[in-house]
Parts: sequence; C-alpha cells; structure tokens
Amino acid sequence: MRLTLKIWRQENASAPGALQTYDLDGVSADMSFLEMLDVLNEKLQGEGQEPVAFDHDCREGICGACSLMINGEAHGPEVTTTCQLHMRSFNDGDTITIEPWRSDAFPVVRDLIVDRSAFDRIIQSGGFISANTGSAPEANSVPAPRDKAMRAFNVATCIGCGACVAACPNGSASLFMGAKITHLGELPQGQPERYSRVVDMVAQHDHEGFGGCTNIGECTSACPKEIPLDVISQLNKDLRDAMRMGL
Ligand code: SF4
Ligand code: FES
Repeated sequence: MRLTLKIWRQENASAPGALQTYDLDGVSADMSFLEMLDVLNEKLQGEGQEPVAFDHDCREGICGACSLMINGEAHGPEVTTTCQLHMRSFNDGDTITIEPWRSDAFPVVRDLIVDRSAFDRIIQSGGFISANTGSAPEANSVPAPRDKAMRAFNVATCIGCGACVAACPNGSASLFMGAKITHLGELPQGQPERYSRVVDMVAQHDHEGFGGCTNIGECTSACPKEIPLDVISQLNKDLRDAMRMGL
C-alpha cells in the first residue's frame, strides 16, 4: 500500500503545532497501525529527520497507552485500540490524518503523545477500599451476587485509554469515572467508601478541567472495551445519594 500521512508535529507543550505530510510506500495490510508508524520512523531516521513521537507499551490492547486520533476518530475506524488496528482497515492510496487526543485535560507532550496523568489523579482521589491486609481471605467469606460480580468484572476492563474523553464533544471523563465507580460500587468490599469516593472523584475530575456529561454517547461508541453508558447513570445516582447524605 502507498499512503499519504498527515501527522501532527509539535515540539513541546508550549510550541505551536502543525500537520505535516509524509508519503509512505510498502505498507502491508497485515501490519498494525503502530507498525506502520514504526516503518515511517525508520524512514525518517534514515533521512536524518526527527521520528514521530507516539505513545505505546503493551501493543496488545491492555495498557491503554496508544492514544491516537485517526481521521477524526479515537483509535480510528474500528472499535479497538490503535495497537490492535490493522492496515487492512485502510485502502491503497488513502490519506490518513493522525492527531493526538484533543482535550484541555490531556496536554500535548510532544507530537502525538499527551499527558494522561489527570486520570491517575482521579483514581488517587478515590482512595483505597477498606480491605484488611494479610493472607488472602477464604473466597466465600464475602458473598457477592453473580450478576453484580459479573458487572463489576466487565466494567473493570476499562484500560484508562482516554478515547472516551477524546470522542466526547464536552471532553468529559464520565465514562472512565463511571467505570471505576461502578466497578467498586457493585462489590461488598467497595461499600464503606462508596459515597465519599464518588464525591472526591467528581471533584478531581472537574478540577482537572474535564467537561460535564450531556448524554451524547460518543464515549461508549469509541470505547475499545465497550464500557456501557449506564455506568454514568450509576455515577450520577451515587453522587445524588452522597449529596442527600450531606457529603
Ligand atoms: S471507559 Fe473505555 S474509552 Fe474510556 S478510558 Fe476506559 S477503556 Fe478507554
Ligand atoms: S499499546 Fe497498550 S493498549 Fe495499545
């Protein structure tokens, strides 16, 4: 395949950025999107040019690092992570525009890399659960209904990639936060701090500059782990209950 790539280049957070155009030949349909960028970077380095900075770690759809806006869609045309996206989703002769996540709360570090540490601070603000340390307790000593355990398990698959924020016209992190709130709120172990947790996480979310949710639903459409929109209902319900308690 022969491609035209329009890639956002930006030296650092305070420097102005711009799209630059690169022609790339010899791309196989079996390559992953990140392997295609590796080929581009080898070519650029061979020509004495600066390679394109982009984030990645596991390349297995687990870590959530590979945050790229591809042709205006978070993680591109498939519902998956960028590292699991393959070039067979594109055609010979295509022009592909590649940008970093767009959100005030995710400042650009360089080129396609953004700083997603705001997510870490939201998680930190939620604190710990009240579980005793020591040897593992007997598994059946804290019964959890199967439907709640399965829901907690399913929403715990959120990898913190930030695609929900990038896709949301409001730049809201409500789907991410709702996944974490629901994950812990469904289980007995998460009950002691359930309501203080939601208050603290929402306060940190707003402090970081993420926007509010207006139920548009772009977040769940873009989510590579298919986190459902109703986790935001759970988040709002827990927040309302916390306010009734005066928290
Ligand atoms: S909710 Fe989905 S899109 Fe948002 S951070 Fe988690 S895995 Fe990524
Ligand atoms: S590099 Fe880890 S999810 Fe893509």
